[in-house]
Amino acid sequence: MPVDKPTQALLEQIAIAVRVLDFSSLDKAAATALHAALADQLEYHNHRYYVLDDPSIDDAEYDRLFQALLQLELGAPELGSAESPSRRVGAKPLGSFDSATHKIPMLSLDNVFSADALRDFDKRLRARLATRSRPESSAASSDAPIVKASTGQLPLDYICEPKLDGVALSLSYENGILVQAATRGDGRVGENITDNARTIASVPLRLRGNDFPAQLEVRGEVVMPITEFNQFNQNALAAGEKVFVNPRNAAAGSLRQLDSRITAKRPLQLFAYSIGHHAEGAIDATHFETLQALKRWGFKVNEHVHRAATIDECIEYCEHLAQLRSSLDYAIDGIVFKINDFSLQSELGFVARAPRWAIAFKFPAEEASTTLVDIDWQVGRTGAITPVAKLEPIFVGGVTVSNATLHNADEIERLDVRVGDRVVIRRAGDVIPQVARVDLSARPSSSQQASGKPRIPSQCPVCNSTVERLDGEAVLRCTGGLVCRAQLKQSIVHFSSRKALDIDGLGDKLIEQLVDTQLIANVADLYLLSQDQIASLERMADKSARNLIESLERSKATELGRFLYALGIREVGETTASNLANHFGTLAAIESASLDALLEVSDVGEIVAAHVVAFFANAENTQLIERLVQQGIGWPVIVVDSESSKDLPLHGQTWVVTGKLINMTRDEAKADLRALGAKVAGSVSSKTNCVVAGPGAGSKLDKAQALDVEVIDEQEFLARRADWLDG
Ligand code: IVH
Repeated sequence: MPVDKPTQALLEQIAIAVRVLDFSSLDKAAATALHAALADQLEYHNHRYYVLDDPSIDDAEYDRLFQALLQLELGAPELGSAESPSRRVGAKPLGSFDSATHKIPMLSLDNVFSADALRDFDKRLRARLATRSRPESSAASSDAPIVKASTGQLPLDYICEPKLDGVALSLSYENGILVQAATRGDGRVGENITDNARTIASVPLRLRGNDFPAQLEVRGEVVMPITEFNQFNQNALAAGEKVFVNPRNAAAGSLRQLDSRITAKRPLQLFAYSIGHHAEGAIDATHFETLQALKRWGFKVNEHVHRAATIDECIEYCEHLAQLRSSLDYAIDGIVFKINDFSLQSELGFVARAPRWAIAFKFPAEEASTTLVDIDWQVGRTGAITPVAKLEPIFVGGVTVSNATLHNADEIERLDVRVGDRVVIRRAGDVIPQVARVDLSARPSSSQQASGKPRIPSQCPVCNSTVERLDGEAVLRCTGGLVCRAQLKQSIVHFSSRKALDIDGLGDKLIEQLVDTQLIANVADLYLLSQDQIASLERMADKSARNLIESLERSKATELGRFLYALGIREVGETTASNLANHFGTLAAIESASLDALLEVSDVGEIVAAHVVAFFANAENTQLIERLVQQGIGWPVIVVDSESSKDLPLHGQTWVVTGKLINMTRDEAKADLRALGAKVAGSVSSKTNCVVAGPGAGSKLDKAQALDVEVIDEQEFLARRADWLDG
C-alpha cells in the first residue's frame, strides 16, 4: 500500500528539533509548520507499526519524536488540536459520557448455526430479488412492473469476514479529521467516547490520502488481542486487581473508562468493517472496494476478508476459518457474510434490527473436559436450591470456567454425575456453561459404587430449614422464607437490580456484608443507612458510600411496574409486573384486587393470580411496602389507555414467548411484539392467541398444545414479523 514518504528537508528539520528539544526561538509560523511535520511523522510511523505491522524506526526513536511534539505543545498549547498525536495519551477524566445519536442506526445481525441455514438464507435473498420491482426502469416506481427474474443464475457475490468478538465503534470524520467516536449503545443512541478512541493506535486521528468524503462515518470492532489480554490479566492478578473474564469484556471495560489515560494504557485494536453516514458523492459501489478504500485511508481491515461468488464458497470459508480460529490472536465468534453490491443491499433493506443482506454464521458451542471437584447447593431468591458444579478450572469458549450449572436434582440423576468424575463442559456465546455429559470410562473406582452418588439435601444448606420438593417439580425449595439469609440476600439483589429499582453501587458483596453485619434485615432498611455506616464496611471508601446514598435517593423515584417487579412476588416477572401496573394503574387497586379481577389481566393465569393474592394477604409484605412508601418511594400515576395501539397489526392479541431463541433474546422478541400492538403474557391460557416456542420450551408449550393454542417457532415468527414490519 503506498504510504507518503516524508521529504528530506522535513526530515532534517525534525532531526534538529528532536536533538535540541528547545523551540523557544521559533516564531508562531515556524512552530506550526514544525508541529505539522512532527505530527505527520508520528502518524506515519504509528500507521506503519500498528496498521501495516511494518515499522521502519525503533521505539526509542519514536519516543524522541513524541517528546519533541509534547515539548513543542508545552510552549504553544494551541497546537494540541484534535488530531494531534499528543491526544493519544488521553485527556482529562470526564464525570460521565455524553450521549451520541447515530445518524444511521447501528444494527445487529441475524444468526445461523448451520450450512443448511446459510443455504436457506441465500435462497431467501434470491427469491426476494427475483420478484422485485425495478425502480431504475421508471421514474415513477409505483407504476413499474414487477419483473420476475430467473433466480438460479442471479450472480450474488458475498464478502466473508471474521465476526470479531469485541465492541462496536462508530468514528465520525469531518474533512478527514476524527471529530467523534461513539459506542453502539442501543443502536440508536450510544456514548460519546472520543477521548478514549483517540488513544487507540490503529484509529486514524486524520485520514490518509485525499479521496475520502468530507463527512465520513467509519464503523468497526475494537478488540484486545488475546496475548495482550492474557498478559494484562497476569499483571492484574499479581497486583491483586480485578481480572477480565474474556477479551471482549476487557475491550468493553477499557473503552468505558471515564479517564482516557487509563484507556491509553490498554492494548486495544480497531478493525474497520464498514462505513455508515457519509456526505453525498463518491463512494464505491461495493463493500469489497469500500474495504480497500478504508485501508487507503489508514484503517486496519481484517486480513482474512474474502470474496465468494457462491454460497458453497461461503460454506468452504466457514470450514477454513474454523481451522484458523485457534491460531488468531483475537477472539472471533463466527463469520459475517455480506452481499457485496451496495445497490442490491439497499434493495434488500432491513427488517427491524437487522439487515436482510447480511447474516452471521455462529460457531458451534465449544466443549472441553475437566474434573468435577464438588457440588455446591446454592439457594436463590425464591428458595429454589440449585446444584452448581465446582470444576477444576478449564479454558473453554474463550473464558476460564470453574463453575457450571447442573440445573436441578433430576439433571444430576440424568447425567449420573459424581464428584471426581471427568465431565464435559459446554459453553456457547454468553450462555452459562453447562455439564454436557460424564466420561464414564474415566470414572475413578472410588466413586463407582452407587454410594458415590451425590446426596440431595433434605435441609437448606444455609438456614437448615426443611427442603420441600413438590410433586412433579424438579426444583428443591428451602421453606425458610426471609429467615433464610440466602433468600434475604437474593431478594435484596433482586430489589436493587437494573430492571427493578436500579440501585447503582449496591453490589452482591456489599449486600452480603450489610446482611451479615445485621445493618439491614429487609429492603426498607436500605433507606435508613447512613453514609458512615456504609463507609465502615470493608472495601468501602467515603466516596463509594456517598455514591450509594445518592443512588438510593435516586431510586426512590420509580415506576409502578418496576416497584411491583422489585417486590419479588413469585412468578411475577418484569412483563407481568408491567401488565399489572398498566391494567390497574395504582398499587392500591392491585393490593385489593380479587382473584377474578387479576385473571382479567391478559398475562395473569391462576397460578400467578394466586401468588399475587397470597403476597398481599401477608401482613409482613404490606407493612414492608408501607415502610418503603413512607421513606419516599413513589411513582407517577398510570393512565390506563388502550386506544393508541388500535391500528397496530397485533392489537388485541396476547402472545407468549418461551424457550431459547437463537436470533434474538426473548426480551427483544417481546419488545417487538409489544411494538406490533400485542400484549405479552408470561403464561399460557385460553386467552393466548399465539406462542413463540424455541428449543427447551417446557410446560408453557405443553399447555399451549393442550389448549389448542397456535404455536410457532422462531423462524416462522421472524417471517411473520418481517411481513408485519414491511406493512
Ligand atoms: S457488520 C448491520 N462486520 O457484530 C451490520 N459486524 O451482531 C452489522 N461484528 O454490532 C455490522 N465483526 O459489533 C459486521 N466483520 C463484521 C463484524 C461485526 C463483528 C459485530 C458488530 C455488530 C455485531 C452484530
